Amino acid sequence: MTQSGEPMIAVEDVEKVFDVRRKAAGRLRRERHRVRAVDGLSFTVPRGEMVGYIGPNGAGKSTTIKMLTGILTPSGGRVLVAGIDPSRDRARLSRRIGVVFGQRTTLWWDLPLRDSYQLVRRMYRIEDARYARNLAACVELLDLGPLLDVPVRQLSLGQRMRGDIAAALLHDPEVLYLDEPTIGLDVVSKAKVRGFLRTVNAERGTTVLLTTHDLTDIETLCSRVMVIDHGRLMYDGGLDGLHAAGDSERTLVVDFARELPPVEVPGARWVRSEGPRQWLAFPAGDSAAPLVAALAARHPLVDLSVREPAIEDVIARMYGAA
Ligand SMILES: Nc1ncnc2c1ncn2[C@@H]1O[C@H](COP(=O)(O)OP(=O)(O)O)[C@@H](O)[C@H]1O
Ligand SMILES: [Mg+2]
Repeated sequence: MTQSGEPMIAVEDVEKVFDVRRKAAGRLRRERHRVRAVDGLSFTVPRGEMVGYIGPNGAGKSTTIKMLTGILTPSGGRVLVAGIDPSRDRARLSRRIGVVFGQRTTLWWDLPLRDSYQLVRRMYRIEDARYARNLAACVELLDLGPLLDVPVRQLSLGQRMRGDIAAALLHDPEVLYLDEPTIGLDVVSKAKVRGFLRTVNAERGTTVLLTTHDLTDIETLCSRVMVIDHGRLMYDGGLDGLHAAGDSERTLVVDFARELPPVEVPGARWVRSEGPRQWLAFPAGDSAAPLVAALAARHPLVDLSVREPAIEDVIARMYGAA
């Protein structure tokens, strides 16, 4: 048990160095090469917090999460999760944490979801009443009812991911790590996943560390965001501060009924056109509604969508501002 004052996750001066052998062009021998995937990382997460963990590809996010689960051992520094050193006591920690990797599944490919959950139940020796209660909650909130008897291989990516998230929560973990859980998901599944995570965090007080490329995930779920780049913490604070630091923009993508010259509306900046489609940038903190109204008043619209700034862009602007 962690005492109430103790952080749920504590990372102190953590490093992870990979030794890789690469075949260099024109050389016979493979060259040894060291990659500092995580490079002097320190942060703490208090119990019950939901934190976004973002950064460009290769920044060290997944490596961090693997060290927090005990899959990887740090090359230096200290990690404590729920008072446990993950790489020393991985089995004991596994009862206290849940993990979801967006790019792979922990479910059994040939089994229906229901049977996978039974296996999870046995693995963690989850007691009957608790299992029934947790499964019912997951089924309802993630809309899994019609999917329970479908073999995992027949599920869509979004359905499978919802199934995976449920599997990670059946044993009531105190900490949940999610590594890109919404990558490649359709809009409906994304919304279900977000709603579910919010409920789990609010009702069970689960501590959540969420890696994502989708800033909407962060905006709807996290009051705090950590930005990592080249294995180092670049920012730790509110999302507002990140937008302010990055001075970032959202993009309104508009399909007009026909091809038009670049449109001009107050509060937005024309970015590009492609046939009848145009891209307009506006400050991330502003509402899109007045822009849409102004456009619709002038030209017939067929469709539109709002794109959040890409995390890479936000971070690039952060550097520009610094
Ligand atoms: N098992 C490994 N062996 C060698 N290099 C690795 C290994 N895992 C990750 N890396 C390297 O470490 C860096 C960080 O990777 P990763 O943590 O997966 O980044 P992210 O999840 O932020 O995209 C990258 O340069 C990656 O190529
Ligand atoms: Mg990753």
